[in-house]
Amino acid sequence: MKGLFITFEGGECSGKTTIIKEVCAVLQQHNIPYISTREPGGIEIAEQIRSIILDIRNTAMTEETEALLYAASRMQHLKEKVLPALEQGMVVICDRYLDSSLAYQGYARGLGMDAILKINHFALHHLPDLTLFIDVKPDVALQRLAQRNKSDRLDLEDISFHKAVYDGYLEVEKLYPNRFVKIDGNKELDALCEDCVQKVLDFIGR
Ligand code: TYD
Repeated sequence: MKGLFITFEGGECSGKTTIIKEVCAVLQQHNIPYISTREPGGIEIAEQIRSIILDIRNTAMTEETEALLYAASRMQHLKEKVLPALEQGMVVICDRYLDSSLAYQGYARGLGMDAILKINHFALHHLPDLTLFIDVKPDVALQRLAQRNKSDRLDLEDISFHKAVYDGYLEVEKLYPNRFVKIDGNKELDALCEDCVQKVLDFIGR
């Protein structure tokens, strides 16, 4: 594989979307061929699967079904979009990947990391070269969320779920200490973007 596969991970209000836009703008300035994509989604079939997973009417969906759908969407996206771009030598920037399934379904929803790895291995396994985890402590993220949606009531379950997702990411770090890099996400967004851009450029060798 000639390209580089770089994923971004983090919980709610981590600034991922803005950071990714900024990183892509800098890749563009440097004339580095890249694509930017996201999970779940990124291609037609995966977007269709995404709408099933995120449809609020699907309250009966079991956690296992959810995990399998994320894996299904991932594999289609990987085969149709990510691997061909890597073959062409591009940098692939992806908003969420396997680590989201490990932190959300494996750890926070309690299915277990092994179960998630197993279903993802079955489909087609390809790990990122670099993962930037935007490390925002859960209480800071919840403060930001409360400011953003002033009318939203954050109940205890939300808070404990956010904490569990965060702890899940710390478990992922233990599984993949080499590719999983924590970025301090508690600082101002501009400084945070700059840190991420620098990490990506260093990794690419620019
Ligand atoms: P999205 O609106 O893209 O959220 P964000 O901006 O936070 O990335 O919705 C994606 C949601 O799906 C998010 O809550 C995380 C969740 N998710 C999983 O639970 N498992 C997964 O494997 C992936 C890729 C996402």
